Amino acid sequence: MKKLTLLGDITPTEFLNEYWHKKPLLIRQAIPQFNAPIKAAELAKLAASEDVESRLVTHFKQQWQLKNGPFEELPDLKKKEWTLLVQGVNLHHPAADAILRQFNFLPDARLDDLMISLASDGGGVGPHFDSYDVFLLQAHGRRRWQISAQKNLDLIDGMPLKILSKFKSEQEFILEPGDMLYLPPHYAHDGVAVGECMTYSIGFRAPAFQELGEAFLQFMSDSIDLPGRYADPDLKPSKHPAELSKEMLETVAQELRKVDFTQEDITVFMGEYLSTPKHSVFFDQPKKPLTPIKFLAAAKKQGIELALKTRMLYRGSNIFVNGESFGVTGADKALLSKLADHRALAGIELGKASVDMQETLCLWYEDGWINLSKNI
Ligand code: SIN
Ligand code: CO
Repeated sequence: MKKLTLLGDITPTEFLNEYWHKKPLLIRQAIPQFNAPIKAAELAKLAASEDVESRLVTHFKQQWQLKNGPFEELPDLKKKEWTLLVQGVNLHHPAADAILRQFNFLPDARLDDLMISLASDGGGVGPHFDSYDVFLLQAHGRRRWQISAQKNLDLIDGMPLKILSKFKSEQEFILEPGDMLYLPPHYAHDGVAVGECMTYSIGFRAPAFQELGEAFLQFMSDSIDLPGRYADPDLKPSKHPAELSKEMLETVAQELRKVDFTQEDITVFMGEYLSTPKHSVFFDQPKKPLTPIKFLAAAKKQGIELALKTRMLYRGSNIFVNGESFGVTGADKALLSKLADHRALAGIELGKASVDMQETLCLWYEDGWINLSKNI
């Protein structure tokens, strides 16, 4: 693959200061002479699979329709105004993962996935807005993007997908392969295929605080520690036996106020939460796994890499992999942080790993979380 320039003449710092969350940016030839690595046939194959999230949006006879995959068959590309959207292609295709990783000037905790759309002439998902930032990279063919900073984001009622009721285009661009458009959250847009085309969307995750709060309470329920049991040695005879007494409520309130959490709880919660793979993800375990001794010997020669589906994050001495946390120190901490940042670790580095870490790596290998590196 060609070296990516991605942001054109702009540095990541300039991009973050001037555009990120603020205004759109069109980058012509973000990837010069881009040759889309995933072809329509491969995308159709992914869309036929149970463990890949896919949708088909059609606008036949002026009617919007949405169907969820898997799809055995797709409409003919000669038939106008349909689009297939395949989510999480990076989890299945190394070339898609490589594109997503080019965006690593943004933290892994914010990067979500690479979605690919395949559209016939006139195909699109209609004028809408997204709640997240998005980079729209034109991969094959051409697409006309109309965009608008409009504040009116009302949707048409009763539609199977979110369509803006009053979309007024303010700017229009035709994107060619390799061109890329960045849009901040809530920026109205409408992308229509000009002839058959493919667009890659690099999507971000921004969890809602409500969602985080609910998950955090669940997480804390495993660790709260409130010893003792309600007692009332000074109880007086009840005049109103059905009434909850003030004393009882006050005693319980006092005990429940002892529920507390530390910054460490937040760190472990966020690491586990953000590294948890989506429900649809199943790891591919090696069919004939090497014995731990053979795996470690090979790993020390070839190095290891994270499986495409593995999510790995870290903070201080906490390492998070696929929703699990591990406390590490010393050389292991440096090695595992490096593995998380680069998604690979050279064989020579593994010589410094503790016996504990080596054992853990063997388990990760058996679970399909890591593989031996392919490029020796
Ligand atoms: C598409 O690729 O057609 C949809 C991308 C988007 O508008 O968010
Ligand atoms: Co969109």
